[in-house]
Amino acid sequence: KRKMFAASRVFSTAAKRSFSTSAANLSKVAVVGAAGGIGQPLSLLLKENPHVTHLSLYDIVNTPGVAADLSHINTNSKVTGHTAENNGIEAALKDAHLVVIPAGVPRKPGMTRDDLFNTNASIVRDIATAAAKHCPNAHFLIISNPVNSTVPIFAETMKKAGVFNPKRLYGVTTLDVVRASRFVSEVKSLDPKDVNVTVIGGHSGVTIVPLLSQTGLEFTKEELDALTHRIQFGGDEVVQAKNGTGSATLSMAFAGARFANSVLEATVGGKKNVVEPSFVQSDIFAAEGVEYFSTNVTLGPEGVEKIHAVGQVTDYEKELISKAVPELKKNIAKGNAFAQ
Ligand code: NAI
Repeated sequence: KRKMFAASRVFSTAAKRSFSTSAANLSKVAVVGAAGGIGQPLSLLLKENPHVTHLSLYDIVNTPGVAADLSHINTNSKVTGHTAENNGIEAALKDAHLVVIPAGVPRKPGMTRDDLFNTNASIVRDIATAAAKHCPNAHFLIISNPVNSTVPIFAETMKKAGVFNPKRLYGVTTLDVVRASRFVSEVKSLDPKDVNVTVIGGHSGVTIVPLLSQTGLEFTKEELDALTHRIQFGGDEVVQAKNGTGSATLSMAFAGARFANSVLEATVGGKKNVVEPSFVQSDIFAAEGVEYFSTNVTLGPEGVEKIHAVGQVTDYEKELISKAVPELKKNIAKGNAFAQ
């Protein structure tokens, strides 16, 4: 009898789910900006992800083609494409479990990420407004730059709608640790899979702070200077090489897919102790007036479970942090002000 009772309880939870979101929608993943330079390869990588049951592609243009193309790949997820026509964003976002946002313009040579603010701020605000309405409980992964400002814009817009959940809003800084791992491994002739570099702060120039002392490797002062600079400004190498046609797209897609997979593993895959860096609401530098900060975070079923402390840092790294904090504060304030 007891068994039957337990079984009926399980059934009723499942039934409830199927009425509100349907079990399959628990891992509906939406990509907003899906037809872009990042959006396309990112969607390709997500089509291969076994946690994704429905890949929902939204962009203002070209998503029907991208969706038709990806839908022929024989993995077990359905693909749908949506555009701005007929309020496509509603169908794209409705009941999504996770939403990745690489929508907006990328840099051209000579531009900083902040130069993108005027165009991307309103794009991100409008996406947040739609998300607040159609999938307020989703996990939101913000790739659109300047991340240091677009994350606050997204948060403030969700707050206005009364649906902000700080555990589920992530600025994607994964590319910084991917680059750091690769660059350090080149200098030390190691396999990058064995090189983990903690990178904290934000996602632009001096706000990117690699903690090379925590790798356990030894560096000369010259190596430290060169590696720190390369990790902070690695994005510029790609912008210059692409010569006006965009910024990192393929490495970013790789990094975005890694982060999305980690969130999926923690939230629907039942995996414990999933650790990734992310720019999240954090009180680490609250005393300095910095509301969002990137450190490693442990991801759990509800999203951000634990924000890791910065840990032991050298004087060299303290100096980097002291330059990052005021710049971050400015970027965050700019985002907050825009959203007001
Ligand atoms: P892209 O121009 O190739 O693609 C952007 C896509 O967004 C386009 O397809 C465009 O139609 C779409 N879009 C524009 N407005 C939209 C809206 N309101 N709703 C939905 N889609 C919209 O640019 P790319 O190279 O894919 O870069 C996208 C963003 O990602 C840029 O802001 C770039 O700076 C940023 N980025 C972030 C990185 C990070 O580490 N977080 C790394 C590299 C780029």
